Amino acid sequence: MVGYGVVVLVGIAVVLFYPCKAEAQAQAQLNSTFYSKTCPNVSSIVRSVVQQALQSDPRIGASLIRLHFHDCFVNGCDGSVLLEVGGNITESEKSAAPNNNSARGFDVVDNIKTSIENSCPGVVSCADILALAAQASVSLAGGPSWNVLVGRRDGLIANQSGANTSIPSPLEALQNITAKFAAVGLNTNDLVALSGAHTFGRAQCRFFSNRLFNFSGSGTPDPTLDSTYLATLQQNCPQNGSATTLNNLDPSSPDSFDNNYFTNLLSNKGLLQSDQQLFSTNASSILSLVNNFANNQTAFFQAFAQSMINMGNITPLTGTQGQIRSDCKKLN
Ligand code: HEM
Ligand SMILES: *[C@@H]1O[C@H](CO)[C@@H](O)[C@H](O)[C@H]1NC(C)=O
Ligand SMILES: *[C@@H]1O[C@H](CO)[C@@H](O)[C@H](O)[C@H]1NC(C)=O
Ligand SMILES: *[C@@H]1O[C@H](CO)[C@@H](O)[C@H](O)[C@H]1NC(C)=O
Ligand SMILES: *[C@@H]1O[C@H](CO)[C@@H](O)[C@H](O)[C@H]1NC(C)=O
Ligand SMILES: *[C@@H]1O[C@H](CO)[C@@H](O)[C@H](O)[C@H]1NC(C)=O
Ligand SMILES: *[C@@H]1O[C@H](CO)[C@@H](O)[C@H](O)[C@H]1NC(C)=O
Ligand SMILES: *[C@@H]1O[C@H](CO)[C@@H](O)[C@H](O)[C@H]1NC(C)=O
Ligand SMILES: *[C@@H]1O[C@H](CO)[C@@H](O)[C@H](O)[C@H]1NC(C)=O
Ligand SMILES: *[C@@H]1O[C@H](CO)[C@@H](O)[C@H](O)[C@H]1NC(C)=O
Ligand SMILES: *[C@@H]1O[C@H](CO)[C@@H](O)[C@H](O)[C@H]1NC(C)=O
Ligand SMILES: *[C@@H]1O[C@H](CO)[C@@H](O)[C@H](O)[C@H]1NC(C)=O
Repeated sequence: MVGYGVVVLVGIAVVLFYPCKAEAQAQAQLNSTFYSKTCPNVSSIVRSVVQQALQSDPRIGASLIRLHFHDCFVNGCDGSVLLEVGGNITESEKSAAPNNNSARGFDVVDNIKTSIENSCPGVVSCADILALAAQASVSLAGGPSWNVLVGRRDGLIANQSGANTSIPSPLEALQNITAKFAAVGLNTNDLVALSGAHTFGRAQCRFFSNRLFNFSGSGTPDPTLDSTYLATLQQNCPQNGSATTLNNLDPSSPDSFDNNYFTNLLSNKGLLQSDQQLFSTNASSILSLVNNFANNQTAFFQAFAQSMINMGNITPLTGTQGQIRSDCKKLN
């Protein structure tokens, strides 16, 4: 009762002291019907362009969901990862350390944007396109569907130093990665569920080769790597070999969205150190989530959908903030 009264008073105070329309809209929540009048077919347009791209590139869905992740962790889900250098943009996020020669799918985002602009010009943000493309990609790969919340607007800045520091690295300790998730309001439940996105897509040798021959200066490989899997990886990523050779993040079903990522961890077949440490570090609450998702794909799919919504809610611009870009690569 008391709590309810406080909420009412706060609500009145907001009306009294912040009557400005822009500020009221700035508090607006995303919802699933934002485009129901202005672009009712937006989800199927996105899905059909992604589906078409998959015909020639079975990896593209994985690349698209990663773009949404890297967008949301830097200044919120505002399409900032898509901006190229030019005009007011002096340093891009797409060439920041975690993205440079790694993030991909920008051309497909542009194709989606073009297709949407043909049906409903000037209303759908690039930030929302990333959220919708992530959902379509998961669903087309056999994963769960969820109602994507939309109504984001596109940001006016790129934050390269933010991208360098806020996006987790595969070499970081679990506590550090947990801290980077907490910094954007995501908990360990979200961390474990969202890490399950590594059930599809690829990773270059340079992101895990430190595990293969001389791990942490020990003179031996990472002891948490299954020995058969280790031999395969040593062959694909030899010492002095190419640092950019691609490897499946989930060797058991490379392009399917399933819970094999978690069963891999149980058999010491996590590709990145940041993957395997979810199982091999003695963090009991995380360990029990990994076990649950490995044993129950339904539980993983439910948690993943909820955590994608949580990630998509990271400080979006709404109302009159930002803009709706007409070209995702640059400011209007
Ligand atoms: C938990 C911390 C995470 C770390 C340290 C991490 C790190 C990485 C690295 C190093 C790669 C390989 C990139 C390359 O070789 O070019 C990668 C790929 C990928 N990541 Fe993550 N990631 C994390 C979380 C996530 C999350 C939250 C998602 C999405 C919800 C995600 C989705 C993906 C996908 C789908 C790929 C494959 C992309 C492709 O094939 O183009 N990752 N990640
Ligand atoms: C969705 O959000 C927009 C913008 O905040 C708002 O105008 C609209 O009424 C919301 N729709 C629902 C069903 O809440
Ligand atoms: C919606 O988009 C899909 C895919 O592009 C298309 O097949 C369908 O005809 C569209 N429907 C409407 C009502 O425009
Ligand atoms: C670029 O920066 C200038 C100076 O801050 C500003 O007036 C202008 O609106 C900016 N342009 C865009 C497209 O944001
Ligand atoms: C990105 O990679 C290119 C090489 O492909 C390199 O020339 C450039 O300096 C890198 N950018 C940053 C910011 O490190
Ligand atoms: C981001 O990291 C790259 C690679 O380490 C570096 O070249 C670049 O200067 C950094 N950018 C900023 C703004 O700190
Ligand atoms: C850039 O990102 C960092 C870390 O996420 C944040 O602290 C900083 O305020 C951001 N800078 C701008 C200009 O938004
Ligand atoms: C974790 O973060 C701490 C504090 O910022 C830092 O000193 C340490 O090097 C990081 N560890 C790893 C493995 O990245
Ligand atoms: C492993 O790395 C450590 C530290 O860099 C080095 O001292 C050692 O000689 C290396 N061992 C082998 C077998 O290469
Ligand atoms: C890798 O290259 C270094 C320097 O050229 C050389 O000393 C070393 O023997 C090479 N290692 C292997 C495994 O080929
Ligand atoms: C986890 O705990 C077990 C048993 O207590 C221990 O043998 C193992 O070394 C620990 N692993 C790590 C990574 O701390
Ligand atoms: C699997 O997880 C779902 C969703 O949490 C739950 O409803 C179901 O009972 C679980 N199944 C088993 C066999 O535990």
